[in-house]
Amino acid sequence: MNILILGGGGREHALAWAVMQNPKCDRLIVAPGNAGIAQIADCASLDICDGTAVVEFAGANSIGFVIIGPEAPLAAGVADDLRDAGVLVFGPSKAAARLEASKAFTKEICTAVDAPTAGYAHFTDVAAARAYLADHPLPVVIKADGLAAGKGVVIATEREEALKAVDDMMGGAFGAAGAEVVIEEFMEGEEASFFVLCDGDAVLPIGTAQDHKRIGEGDTGPNTGGMGAYSPAPVMDDAVVAATLERIVKPTMAEMTRRGTPFQGVLFVGLMIADGRPRLVEYNVRFGDPECQCLMMRLGAQALDLMLACAEGRLAEAQVNWAHDHAMCVVMAAAGYPGAYEKGSIIGGLDALEGDSFSMMFHAGTATRDGRMVAAGGRVLGATARGATLAEARQRAYGMVDAVDWPQGVFRRDIGWRAL
Ligand code: AMP
Ligand code: GLY
Repeated sequence: MNILILGGGGREHALAWAVMQNPKCDRLIVAPGNAGIAQIADCASLDICDGTAVVEFAGANSIGFVIIGPEAPLAAGVADDLRDAGVLVFGPSKAAARLEASKAFTKEICTAVDAPTAGYAHFTDVAAARAYLADHPLPVVIKADGLAAGKGVVIATEREEALKAVDDMMGGAFGAAGAEVVIEEFMEGEEASFFVLCDGDAVLPIGTAQDHKRIGEGDTGPNTGGMGAYSPAPVMDDAVVAATLERIVKPTMAEMTRRGTPFQGVLFVGLMIADGRPRLVEYNVRFGDPECQCLMMRLGAQALDLMLACAEGRLAEAQVNWAHDHAMCVVMAAAGYPGAYEKGSIIGGLDALEGDSFSMMFHAGTATRDGRMVAAGGRVLGATARGATLAEARQRAYGMVDAVDWPQGVFRRDIGWRAL
């Protein structure tokens, strides 16, 4: 079967790596891909948010299965266009992608099914939002309703800061995404992510993870897309997993199906856990990046079978073959990230890292220039490894990091500290 993956980050490199190991894959094309992906698959330039263009490309290249990596094409309805054209696709419809694309929608679903989450109020009017903040306890969480590339959340510890966040968001700092805001109660606890495949009927857990969002060691400094991750998350014990499935995931999926907008794809469940009780922070309708790198390292070739079973509505008969292993991904970013950073610095040492089923250097933002590998994004590489213990996975991952010759790169030395 010919397979097309949409996206070009570390997540998509990991998906491509897992898919390529499965003999069901005859040819793999990744659009747009990156320089690391180009070493294992064909890359194509394509506007991945243009459904008509993606359908045409799939037809022209005899694609039998499309895996959609990032949220933007999902929110744009590319999965619907492919399904309408009769192309098998992994990823939710535009209507089901609202679980990520609208925070107010997710809150409304949580209320409808009584899923535990932070108390909230939803505003379309600045004056009403400001008035609501007047006596709200601090800290308070302000969220732009729509997709804001991970930047639409402000945790305000002072009232002035909260008011400013509302003014900025509703004043257009995130364009249409901030026209509406959700104001939430601040939840204490430990965060973890839970990944579940759903086909509109059955649900199948495929792993837990924790990521490090802050740029600096000790989880300090500005937020990033994620500087590292590990799987499994120790805080997600059997009881927390069961409670998350019964009280949050299954009721949400049943409600989406009942509304005529079943969810098909991977649901990324962001949780806050306190005293063994999980509450929903947010849903994403795609794999996390860099969490996906850890999950693919652990699942390997079976990831493709699971995604196919999901897309074909056969999830009830699918099962995951677990190795009781651990994985870690350490992200290497360009100095300056998540602020302004330079592109084009030369990265050496990558050729010596061959990669195998225990360790892979996934590329997130790389390009080739005059035959050399150069940085081409904020997050650039994801050293990902697995082992019988997290300590072993960590040792392998940092072994790869240390073999890279890239003076302009930055990374954290403490990924996994909470679990180790
Ligand atoms: P994201 O939406 O993934 O960019 O990240 C938002 C982050 O803000 C989450 O990962 C949490 O760390 C934090 N957060 C969001 N909502 C809440 C809440 N209600 N209480 C506490 N922390 C929150
Ligand atoms: N690592 C968090 C995300 O992918 O949203």
